[in-house]
Amino acid sequence: MFNKRNITIVVVLVALVLTSCIRNPKYPGREFIPDMAHSKAYEGYFENPGEGILYEGMNAQLPPKGSIAQSFEVYPFPNTPEGYEAAGEQFFNEFTFTDAELSGEGKKLFERFCAICHGVEGDGKGHLTTLKLAMSGEGFPQPPSYFRDDILILPQGKRYHTVMYGKGMMGSYATQLSHKERWLVLSYVQSLQDKYVAANAKTEETASNN
Ligand code: HEC
Repeated sequence: MFNKRNITIVVVLVALVLTSCIRNPKYPGREFIPDMAHSKAYEGYFENPGEGILYEGMNAQLPPKGSIAQSFEVYPFPNTPEGYEAAGEQFFNEFTFTDAELSGEGKKLFERFCAICHGVEGDGKGHLTTLKLAMSGEGFPQPPSYFRDDILILPQGKRYHTVMYGKGMMGSYATQLSHKERWLVLSYVQSLQDKYVAANAKTEETASNN
């Protein structure tokens, strides 16, 4: 069993096993299909080695001017006083919402994003306006009540413009609400106004009847 040949084989095998485990950082050993471990793909924001192949030599190219991301809705009016006026004349709600949508999702969105200032009822007495701010000791200035005469008849396009870009102390809701949600929440505001007008007409009626 322990003849010379067998011992030599064992010694050679042991030597092979031991030397194969030696880790030389300069020589990591043989790699199988090295192209896959060390990808030759170019990084997007680095220079492209092929001179003059790509515009300005960068791998990731800018989208052509005027490109629009899929499903992005273009709002055609600029954030200027003229844009505000134009929206009032030319921009309208193309959706019809059911009562269930208004009192469901519409109310939910309004109470989530708007009621903090405008108040749950829309009277402009939201929590923020009654809260005393730590620095100044004053509340956030009250937004106009939705039931003020000029706001009651404010064109829908102007309201949308305000939700889109913000106005005065009110910020923009362009990123929080989709195009459809903006109209839904504004339709909910309109429903609050309709209720207010209907209730007031009734009180006037009873007043004139007495
Ligand atoms: C941080 C408080 C605040 C929040 C939150 C807020 N608003 Fe306002 N909003 C205001 C103020 C203040 C004004 C008055 C702006 C002005 O005329 O200077 C205003 C004005 C408005 C107007 C009248 C717009 C116009 O063109 O005169 C509408 C409509 C309106 N808000 C709807 C909304 C809706 C819908 C939301 C929720 C998506 C909302 N607001 C959230 C403070 C707020």
